[in-house]
Amino acid sequence: MRIITVINQKGGVGKTSLVFNLAMCAVEQGARTAVIDLDTQGSASRALTGEFNIHREYEGGADALILSDDAVSPHKTSHGIDVFHGHDKLDGIDNVEGIEDIAFSTDMRQRLRQLPYDVIVIDTPPAIGLRHMAPLYWSDRVLIPLEPEIESVIGMQNVLDSLELVREDNPGVVWMAAINKLKVSSRSHKMILESVRSSYGDQLIAELGDRVAVADSRQQEMPVPVWRYRGADKKLRDLWLNFCKAVVC
Ligand SMILES: Nc1ncnc2c1ncn2[C@@H]1O[C@H](COP(=O)(O)OP(=O)(O)O)[C@@H](O)[C@H]1O
Ligand SMILES: [Mg+2]
Repeated sequence: MRIITVINQKGGVGKTSLVFNLAMCAVEQGARTAVIDLDTQGSASRALTGEFNIHREYEGGADALILSDDAVSPHKTSHGIDVFHGHDKLDGIDNVEGIEDIAFSTDMRQRLRQLPYDVIVIDTPPAIGLRHMAPLYWSDRVLIPLEPEIESVIGMQNVLDSLELVREDNPGVVWMAAINKLKVSSRSHKMILESVRSSYGDQLIAELGDRVAVADSRQQEMPVPVWRYRGADKKLRDLWLNFCKAVVC
């Protein structure tokens, strides 16, 4: 079992797009795959299930998985990916008494590891808080997407600070960063990219450009991963597939 969290407090950097593509890649590689969606917007859940109103379904979501001692039935999707979905009352768990003792515990980590999957991909909300911190305790790998913009870099640094706190309880966790939505013609992007490369070069595993085909592949009734989208050229497809394989395998 491998648990992978995609995280950056900054919104719009590509977390949900990556979660969707990573989960699709894992299932295509033959892994028994689940997604835990910790975002109240439920965007990853919507993309995977095709259910437009999934954010208004309150039974059996990601919160139940964390709070309930009983088995929780995930949404079964046509791709074969199981989804513990996000919904707009998910933030209710943030204020449950003693939640940190439950969510940050080794027991919780063990409980997730006993689920019948090879790969679990976790989507996170664009804000620091319980649902940002807890998955760091559970994860083997943490993927931080960032746009080459200051707020995004600050978001990454905050995740790294949180990881330092978590490391005592989860010493094996490794992290990696991926630049996303890079605009080659932007001078500021170029500048920040250089600075990220020089500070975090070893951890930077991909530089993904800002491409309409990436956005379009998700904005469909039934979203597809980038490498299955007809509007994406071969180079873009290969880039995304190889990148996703490197993260999930
Ligand atoms: N490489 C990319 N090129 C172009 N658009 C992208 C790219 N990655 C993500 N997007 C688009 O950017 C928006 C925000 O992405 P999303 O994955 O929802 O970010 P987050 O979950 O971090 O808020 C979406 O409209 C998405 O389709
Ligand atoms: Mg998102």
